[in-house]
Amino acid sequence: YQNKETDVSSTTDASAGRAQITARTLRTDRWWLPPLANFVGLTAWVVYATVRAFVQDDYFVPEYNYLTPFYSPCVSYGCDPHASHFGQFLPDVWWLPYAAASLPFLLLFRLTCYYYRKAYYRSFWLSPPACAVAEPHKGYSGETRFPLLGQNLHRYFFYIAGIISLINTYDAFYAFVRSDGSFGFGLGNVILLVNVVLLWAYTISCHSCRSIIGGRLNHFSKHPARYRMWVFVSKLNAKHMQLAWTTLATLALTDFYIMAVAAGWIPDLRIIN
Ligand code: FES
Repeated sequence: YQNKETDVSSTTDASAGRAQITARTLRTDRWWLPPLANFVGLTAWVVYATVRAFVQDDYFVPEYNYLTPFYSPCVSYGCDPHASHFGQFLPDVWWLPYAAASLPFLLLFRLTCYYYRKAYYRSFWLSPPACAVAEPHKGYSGETRFPLLGQNLHRYFFYIAGIISLINTYDAFYAFVRSDGSFGFGLGNVILLVNVVLLWAYTISCHSCRSIIGGRLNHFSKHPARYRMWVFVSKLNAKHMQLAWTTLATLALTDFYIMAVAAGWIPDLRIIN
C-alpha cells in the first residue's frame, strides 16, 4: 500500500492525492461496522426526536414541574401556561414544535459539531466511509463550498447552545418546586439533573469552546485562569465523542421518562413528596 501511495507523486493533477488502487479498499477488518452503527443510531434518534417534537402532548408533569428538554423553552400559545416560563409567542399550529425557538439551533449545533460531522460524513455520505476506503463520489471539495461552508458557523451555535443549556438548568432546578410551591424530590429530578450536567459537559467539551477559552494567547503563563480552564476543557474535549452519544441517550431517556409519567403509564418514584 505504501508503494502505491508513493506512486501518487507521479500521477496527474486531476488524480493527485488519490492512491491508484483499483480495489475499493485493502482493509480486511470490519471497517464498515462503525459507520453502520452510527447510521442506525443517528437515524433512530432523529426519528424518535422528530416524532416527539411534533406530537405536542405528554411533555409536562404539572404536579412536579417536570418539563422535557424537547419542549424547552415552551413558547407556543399551545403550551401549558405553567410550563411557559419564558412567555408564549409562537402560533399553536401542528407543524410548529412548541420549542421551535430552541430546537433548530440545537439541531444546527449538533449538525455542525466536529464529531458529528465525522460521524455523518462517514455513515450517511460515505465520504469516505472509513480510513483507507475509497468514497463513491467523484469530486471532493471538502467544506469549501456552500452549503458545507456553513459548518464554520459552529462557534455561533455554540454560544446559543450555551444559552439553551442555561434554560435547561433552570428547568432542572425549577422541577424541585411542586405545583403547590413546596419542595419535592423524585426520580424525575435525578434524571433531569444528570441530563443537564451531561449536556453542560458535552457543550463545554466543544472544540470551539476550547479555542475560545485557550485561543489567541501567546503566553499561557500570563493568563493562568484561562490556562486552567483550557486544561479542564481539553480533558473533557478528549471525551467529546462519548459525550455526544451519552447526551443523545440521556435526552431521549429524560424525554421518555417525563412522557411516561405525564401520560400516566408510570408514577414518578418520589423520594421526598
Ligand atoms: Fe462538537 Fe462543538 S465540536 S459541539
